[in-house]
Amino acid sequence: MITRIGTVAEMRIVSESYRNQGKRIGFVPTMGALHEGHLSLVRIARERTDAVVVSVFVNPLQFGKGEDFDRYPRNLERDAALLERCGTDILFCPREEDMYAVGHCTYIDVERLSSVLEGEHRPGHFRGVTTVVAQLFNIVRPHVAVFGQKDAQQAVIIRQMIRDLHYDIEMIVAPIVREADGLAMSSRNAYLAPSERTAALSISRGLRKAEEMYRTGEKDAQVLARTVEREILSERDMRIDYVAVVNPETLVEVTIASGAMIAVAARVGNTRLIDNTLLGQESAEK
Ligand code: PAF
Repeated sequence: MITRIGTVAEMRIVSESYRNQGKRIGFVPTMGALHEGHLSLVRIARERTDAVVVSVFVNPLQFGKGEDFDRYPRNLERDAALLERCGTDILFCPREEDMYAVGHCTYIDVERLSSVLEGEHRPGHFRGVTTVVAQLFNIVRPHVAVFGQKDAQQAVIIRQMIRDLHYDIEMIVAPIVREADGLAMSSRNAYLAPSERTAALSISRGLRKAEEMYRTGEKDAQVLARTVEREILSERDMRIDYVAVVNPETLVEVTIASGAMIAVAARVGNTRLIDNTLLGQESAEK
């Protein structure tokens, strides 16, 4: 039976009690609107730890002006039912006024890594992510935290934060989960009209083409990036924010694509989608 916790104080007591019983705590932070991608993270936490905590908190700090904070899908009852089915012990839904009490003025900024790719297009986004994740780590005190490769830059930044702030947390990054037709699962896919969804498939198609070229010997990062761009722009309604071939740890752009990551952000209608692939590691993706 899943237990719902709505206050920071109660979450702290429960975490402390797990720790006192010698239980290892697994943690999956989310913003809700859960899909199979999130559930795959929960299953990993379930396999590796004794008590699984999932947070659902739509974090206002990571949304910029004009972004989708107000319309971000929220369905806590559905989320709770899905989480219960895959063995979640605690659903932690903190209140905004607890996370950002009046007078809150402490922020976590992982410099450099936060200013490229998504950071260039969504200034302040990662400051919001790292600030809330640091708070959640301090409240939940997990032994293991599981994040998705879909948000590859977020994972790199949080790994750096864990290192820099000496969090005693093992971080696991789980493979991207895709729909049968290749679309990377995302809560934002719910925004897509049928024609937009069809157009959005060009992103994963482009990445697959580049993977195939890489497998058959093409290592020029520019050639691979152009291939992805061309495929995306073959759909009239698509607009590209970036297609970048980067070192998957430093996020620095590379010219030779060996072992690199291709990261994409593109828009269709009012929806912004991201996706990526780790070249040469396609077996890591579902
Ligand atoms: O990946 C997300 O859903 C969010 O960025 C996270 C990590 C839950 C922080 O709000």
